[in-house]
Amino acid sequence: MAAGSGIAVTFTEELVGGASVDAYGIALRPQTLKLCKAADAILFGAVGGPKWDDAAPQSELRPGSALLGLRKGLGLFANLRPVRVDAAMASTSVLRPERVRGVDLMVVRELTGGLYFSKPKRRYDTPRGRAAVDTMRYSEPEIERVAVRAFELAQRRRRQVCSVDKANVLETSRLWRTVVSGIAVRYPDVACTHLLVDAFAMELLRRPQAFDVIVTENLFGDILTDEASMLAGALGMLPSASLGEGRLGLYEPVHGSAPDIAGKDVANPIGAILSAAMLLRWSLNRDDAAQTIERAVSETLGAGLRTADIASDGQTVVGTRAMTEAVLKALA
Ligand code: IPM
Ligand code: MG
Repeated sequence: MAAGSGIAVTFTEELVGGASVDAYGIALRPQTLKLCKAADAILFGAVGGPKWDDAAPQSELRPGSALLGLRKGLGLFANLRPVRVDAAMASTSVLRPERVRGVDLMVVRELTGGLYFSKPKRRYDTPRGRAAVDTMRYSEPEIERVAVRAFELAQRRRRQVCSVDKANVLETSRLWRTVVSGIAVRYPDVACTHLLVDAFAMELLRRPQAFDVIVTENLFGDILTDEASMLAGALGMLPSASLGEGRLGLYEPVHGSAPDIAGKDVANPIGAILSAAMLLRWSLNRDDAAQTIERAVSETLGAGLRTADIASDGQTVVGTRAMTEAVLKALA
């Protein structure tokens, strides 16, 4: 990544998730978290697989707990998930090309609150069988800071924020809507709309080109970004950035692990490559270098190279390595 860009980068590698469970008996070691805190940025691979699936949901033996531990431990409350449909990719989408051409949206997902982290959260026994509880809690400052991030982003884009909630049912969503509306007043140059999450899930397919910045709570954002990825053709295309108050960020493809294809040289590397571009943009302040990488990816796709997940009939399918090399070549 640093090659040719004039950016001196020191890489340190650490195991997290399943690999860390195997090596150290725990998904995220305290010293790993400490190392990450001291870094400028974290480029994250993926965690998880059937081998570790039997661990209890809240257990620190679960690979996903490493990711959640890093997000929470580093205070990364704003998860940026851009979905841009490359001109060359419009025909790969499950939607008709004319519906997705030019889609350029950014989901800002709240990442350290809501159902993922609020307490109580447990399973317990009752005289009439087992029961379980998860809690959805949001405080005003938690909503404010992620909303501010969304409005600031919109100012640099097409000046529209759509806030997604379930205010017809959930108390947290009613607070969410009130707080976001309050923040919106501070950004008179940005148009703010609100949509209920079920309606938004539909609108995202019906008129994806209409959206610019979308801000939503943790679980809604998790679900909606998988849906949104289908606009871009496949989950393997999407990068993400998880940011807090400072410059430190964690960058990871949205796709997570794919144990069924691991090690077979078929995975799509573009989500990871574009995540590195986001790292340059948000943590190292090198928008120029980020754009260079993004252009190299577009060029490679424009030249017709496809990994299996994004290939349509008649297109040449290449493996992970060949795709990566082609992007590197376009960079050089
Ligand atoms: C994501 C993933 C994670 C999440 C899992 C792996 C815990 O689905 O980053 O979207 O739910 O946040
Ligand atoms: Mg997810």
